[in-house]
Amino acid sequence: MKFNKLDSYYVTIDIDKKHKQPLLDLIDKMPGSFMYGLSKSDWDFDENHNREYLEYFKKILSPHLDKLADRLCFKKWTVSNAWYQQYKKTNGHTWHNHAYSNFSGVYYVELPNDDLKTQYYDSMNKKIFEQLNINEGQLLIVPSYILHRSPENNSNNRKTIIAFNINFEECIHNAIN
Ligand SMILES: [Fe+2]
Repeated sequence: MKFNKLDSYYVTIDIDKKHKQPLLDLIDKMPGSFMYGLSKSDWDFDENHNREYLEYFKKILSPHLDKLADRLCFKKWTVSNAWYQQYKKTNGHTWHNHAYSNFSGVYYVELPNDDLKTQYYDSMNKKIFEQLNINEGQLLIVPSYILHRSPENNSNNRKTIIAFNINFEECIHNAIN
């Protein structure tokens, strides 16, 4: 087996800070289960469960995904699933990837310190990638196959994210030279 390098990218998008508190208020209204016993989330809820925070978030997200699909030469995007996760002291999420998805997104609603940033694993070089340049209030979009984890929260501050999976389809042929 021979490995040849193809460059990949992660995308960061600034989201207006005015959306932070309304989203936190809507997430507060949500019930949650303790996924893997480690973070509060609606990840395992039925897809028909009422999620006002997601209705709000998708309105913010849609124009950005329109632009991203266009830049990547795709006509169509779909968000196959989305969920929130909240990490308090001692909460974390171990190494995993997101299957059946092209890209995965994370919106950092609350990211009180750098130690709580998602870590991504460079499987080829057997090391964690250098910390990504991402901050609270930004949206991060990364290829879904890349292993990642949320390190254990050793602080007294809460981290809140909204995560989602994206699939792109249908090439814009005339966008390719
Ligand atoms: Fe994840």
